[in-house]
Amino acid sequence: MGAHNQWKVFLSDLTYDEQEEQAVLEVIRSRWLTMGPRTEAFEKRVAEYVGCKHAICLSSCTAGLYLLLKSLDIGPGDEVLVPSLTFVATVNVIVNLGAVPVFCDVISPELPLIDPEEIRSKLSPATRAVYAMDYAGYPCDYDAITDAIAEYETSTSNLRRRGAKPQSIHLFEDAAHGIGGALDAERSLGNCADAGVFSFFSNKNVATGEGGMVVTNQAHIAERIHLLRRHGLTHSTWERHLADTLSYDVELPGWNFRPTEITSALGLVQMDKLEGNQERRHELVRRYQSGLAQLPEVTVPFAQIKTWHFPACHVFPILLPDSVTRNRVREALHASGIQTSHHYPPVHLFEYYQRAQPTARVQLPQTEQYAARELTLPLHPRMTLDQVEWIVAQVAEGLTP
Ligand SMILES: Cc1ncc(COP(=O)(O)O)c(C=O)c1O
Repeated sequence: MGAHNQWKVFLSDLTYDEQEEQAVLEVIRSRWLTMGPRTEAFEKRVAEYVGCKHAICLSSCTAGLYLLLKSLDIGPGDEVLVPSLTFVATVNVIVNLGAVPVFCDVISPELPLIDPEEIRSKLSPATRAVYAMDYAGYPCDYDAITDAIAEYETSTSNLRRRGAKPQSIHLFEDAAHGIGGALDAERSLGNCADAGVFSFFSNKNVATGEGGMVVTNQAHIAERIHLLRRHGLTHSTWERHLADTLSYDVELPGWNFRPTEITSALGLVQMDKLEGNQERRHELVRRYQSGLAQLPEVTVPFAQIKTWHFPACHVFPILLPDSVTRNRVREALHASGIQTSHHYPPVHLFEYYQRAQPTARVQLPQTEQYAARELTLPLHPRMTLDQVEWIVAQVAEGLTP
């Protein structure tokens, strides 16, 4: 992000201008700062964009990932299947509820998305939910995942093992990278499962600094998340303000996961820019792909797979032959002023998880190979095609020992 002058090309950058400045000024002048009419408008806008019935804005995506599990009362003894190739938040929320994360491998280094066959083999009578994550803004295979869950649920042996009436397994989508993308003509990212969560953190395709949103068609999930984000209160502060009433009841012990009107106003302006920004991201990714195709040592995940209708192109990962080469190229790029990153160190290998979570002591060969070779190159709508070509040339130079 655009804070350090040492970088000639930032990994990501805001697309802010005077429209965002004006939007914030209007909130300040309205003198209503916490969740209110702009948040409602932002929720309506995202729900329409995604094509789903309910959208609930929150202070972060992490809050949404947590509340989705909480809305089903998932807790100790319950298992949640999750990729290890994700930002740690997806897994931390499981552990923070006392539930057990069951780590699943990705399909392959060329297709680093949770593997439906891994899900199939790791579903158990204790499974309550599956978190899929649209890595880099590319859709997981939701049809194959849904089939795996449905087959498991209807298998007679499973019903016998569970004894009484089985609880259904929910499929959730960590769509932190997903806004602006689609699985097919009918399904926007975020809207491919029982519920999805977007992130509006500063580096995201829709950026508000901090923020997140749950989108779902399931009324019972939406109702619970509405309550839980505001301490379980029956009426929000804004509703009480409008109705001029002081009274409320508490239906559930919740938290304060409310967004502010400032972030929602920023989100509304960013939604106006989303389509144009997405076109730009696609153009940049195409240029990267054609340039990198000239470098046989570089593998570009997703490049060979033709079924993507409209990925969100949130970040641009490449694979180098091994970790030594990756580190060498990374250093060369940094020396040239090109900021890079790494998505992601696998969660199951973090110190806490190795020490405290027995389920983390597994081997996930595709994930581990991917993480050892991956380097994330800059991608944001303010970049030029010339910059992409320059970065590709710098990668080529860094490859030469
Ligand atoms: C895959 C993934 N999940 C969850 C999160 C957490 O989002 P937030 O920072 O909005 O809580 C992020 C943030 O970068 C992410 O990349």
